[in-house]
Amino acid sequence: MIERPRRLRTTAAMRKLVRETRPRPAQLVLPVFVGESPAEIGAMPGVRRHTVEQIGGVARSAAEAGLGGIMLFGVPDDADKDSRGTQAWAPDGIEQRAITACREAVGDDLVIMSDVCLDEFTSHGHCGFLAEDGRVINDETCDAYAQQAVAQARAGTHVVAPSGMMDGQIRVIRAGLDAAGFEDVGILAYSAKYASAFYGPFREAVGSSLQGDRRTYQQDPANRREGLREALLDLSEGADMVMVKPASHYLDVLADVAAVSKVPVAAYQVSGEYAMIEAAAEHGWIDRRAAIQESITSIVRSGADVVLTYWALEVAEWLD
Ligand code: PBG
Repeated sequence: MIERPRRLRTTAAMRKLVRETRPRPAQLVLPVFVGESPAEIGAMPGVRRHTVEQIGGVARSAAEAGLGGIMLFGVPDDADKDSRGTQAWAPDGIEQRAITACREAVGDDLVIMSDVCLDEFTSHGHCGFLAEDGRVINDETCDAYAQQAVAQARAGTHVVAPSGMMDGQIRVIRAGLDAAGFEDVGILAYSAKYASAFYGPFREAVGSSLQGDRRTYQQDPANRREGLREALLDLSEGADMVMVKPASHYLDVLADVAAVSKVPVAAYQVSGEYAMIEAAAEHGWIDRRAAIQESITSIVRSGADVVLTYWALEVAEWLD
C-alpha cells in the first residue's frame, strides 16, 4: 500500500496540524431581533427579542467576543404596521433606533448590518408592496428599499442587507445611497435566497403577519443554476458581499457562488437550522456542541467567508 491517509489522523495534534477549515470568531455575524418589548422566542430556545435599550449591550458583547458583525432585525408592534410598511423608513422606526443604539455602543469596533426588507413592517407580511390582485410589485418596492437603506445609513449602519429578492434591488439601493452621500455604506446582498420551510421560527421571532408564501420572489429550492445567476446579477449591480440562504441545505449553491465571486461570500444559518439542532440536543439525540461546530465548519468548508448564526457568541467562546 502506497497511500495511507489514516497516518494524518493518528493523533489529535496531527489532525490539528492538517485541518483545512478553521472557523474564526471574526467571520461570524450574530443576527438579533429588536422590538418594543422583550420576548422569548419559543421555537428558538436561547434566542430572545431585545429592546432598543438592551441592544447596545448585546452589540458590546459581540464586539468583546471578537465577532465580525451584528445583523439587526427591527420588529415593530402590530399597531405600527401598515400596507406599505412605512415604519421601515421612518427616522424613528424601530430598526433605525436599534442601529443608532448599537452604533453609540460600539462605534466602528463591530460591523453593524441591518436588514432591508418590508416584511416586518407590512400588515400583510409580504416583502414588498401589494397590487390589488395580490401580486408583489417589483420596481416600486425597490424604490422603497432605497429609502429604507438611506434611513438606516442616516441612523448609522455600516452595511445594509437587502433580503427581499426583488429584481434589480441592489442597483436601486446603491444609487439611492450614493445620491444621499452614503458611498461608504456597503451592501450585503441576500443573493440566492430560497423560499424555505426553515424560516419558520424566524416568522415567530418577528411576529410575521404573512398569509400564503413568498414563492413569486424567493427562489425555488429545486434550482441550483438560478442561485448562481442571482449572485452574478447582484455582483453586476454593485453588491459588496453576496449571501446564500439558508446555509446547510444549500451548500452546493454556496460552493458554486464561492467559486466565481470576486467579493466575500456569506451564508445564513437560519432559524430552522438552529431549531432542529437545539430540539434534537434537548432530547439527548445528538451532541449539541459537536453538532453546532460541525454545522458551522461545513458551511465554512463549502466556501463561506462570513457566517450568520444565532450561535455566534457561544461558538466564538469555544473557538477561543
Ligand atoms: C425577510 C427575512 C427572513 C429571514 C431573514 N430575513 C424571513 C423570510 O424570508 O420569510 C429568515 C431568517 C431565519 O429564518 O433565521 N426579511
